[in-house]
Amino acid sequence: MTLRLLAATLPGMSKSDFLDSGFATRAVHVGQDPDPETGAVIPPLHATSTFVQFEFGEPGKYIYSRSGNPTRAALEANLAALESAEFGIAFGSGCAATDSIIRLLRPGAHIIAGADLYGGTYRLFEQVLADFGFDFEYVDTTDPANISAAWRDETAMVFIETPSNPLMSISDITAIAEITRERGARLVVDNTFMSPFLQRPLELGADLVFHSTTKYINGHSDSIGGIVLTNNAVDAERLVFIAKSVGATLSPFEAWLIQRGVKTLAIRMERSQATAERVVELLDNHEKVKRVYYPGLASHPQHELAKRQMDGFGGMVSFELADMSAVKRLLDSLTVFTLAESLGGVESLISNPASMTHASIPREERGARGVKDGLVRISVGVEDAEDLLADLRRALENV
Ligand SMILES: Cc1ncc(COP(=O)(O)O)c(C=O)c1O
Repeated sequence: MTLRLLAATLPGMSKSDFLDSGFATRAVHVGQDPDPETGAVIPPLHATSTFVQFEFGEPGKYIYSRSGNPTRAALEANLAALESAEFGIAFGSGCAATDSIIRLLRPGAHIIAGADLYGGTYRLFEQVLADFGFDFEYVDTTDPANISAAWRDETAMVFIETPSNPLMSISDITAIAEITRERGARLVVDNTFMSPFLQRPLELGADLVFHSTTKYINGHSDSIGGIVLTNNAVDAERLVFIAKSVGATLSPFEAWLIQRGVKTLAIRMERSQATAERVVELLDNHEKVKRVYYPGLASHPQHELAKRQMDGFGGMVSFELADMSAVKRLLDSLTVFTLAESLGGVESLISNPASMTHASIPREERGARGVKDGLVRISVGVEDAEDLLADLRRALENV
């Protein structure tokens, strides 16, 4: 791997000898050198807003935590090493990361976005950024030809989620990257559902990858954060500047917590995925379930692409019941699954996108995109598979 340490352009990278190691080793060790002063195995949490300047006119490496903090820098190096990126810029949330990515563009820019995006991303685009002169157009990116067809002179970015949220459709990153590269635009991939353990879009030609670290990367449902990863030094520098200027940076405490979570990312993803496969089997053979959305199913429309593009099919499963009242009966009967928004934590979460995560998309628009009232989304956690399956079986009987 030709990963270069970030010291030259971003604040505070520590030396690391683990850049050529396997994924789980990098997750545990990159940016995590023991504290040289005390020998503490875990790098300390630098909970400070400012840094002393020992001599007038000679500030040290760090000045003020909105612009740079060693705990945050360590996390940025760690996540960059996992996504095959040179640069990582951490934000206070996934939405703050998305907002800063769009600010790389100038007003008047046309952005082609996937039709099946996280509802909060759609809300940010339509109810905030559209008012500042950015023009978003939503197309079904599972067919790259739709992107070419929507292209205009002002198109500056293609913004996709793959697998998409909540319908688990897969877009071909390599094919779309060819289109954007040819035309001088950026391809941005929201990799939140997969985590770098299962998919690394930069290796497939994407220009910028981002995560809501709130999900799998932190993995314990106890922090909010975001990260952008790229090999483009100009974009990285501009994102650092935007983040510090608008104050979108991640707090040191959140960075420390997220780093703790990252260390078990590989084993959490393996466990969650193994159980998800059993959950899919149960749902796919159940008479009350109309349809299951999971890229690992041979019947999934982009199953072959998923096999090529991803290192596994992940821990997210969506399925459809008859209607909202069936959903209510199911959700009210579960005891191990927790009814809550979000995903990617150690606890299995279940939600109804139409009334929860995607409620900010108008009903008609939602329906047109296939997010029906009867849709249920599961994020499979790391509990015992037998307990989760028994819980689902029992609840489905009440539907
Ligand atoms: C796929 C996806 N992207 C982005 C976000 C936004 O992240 P955050 O909630 O950390 O702002 C979410 C949140 O649910 C998400 O699921």
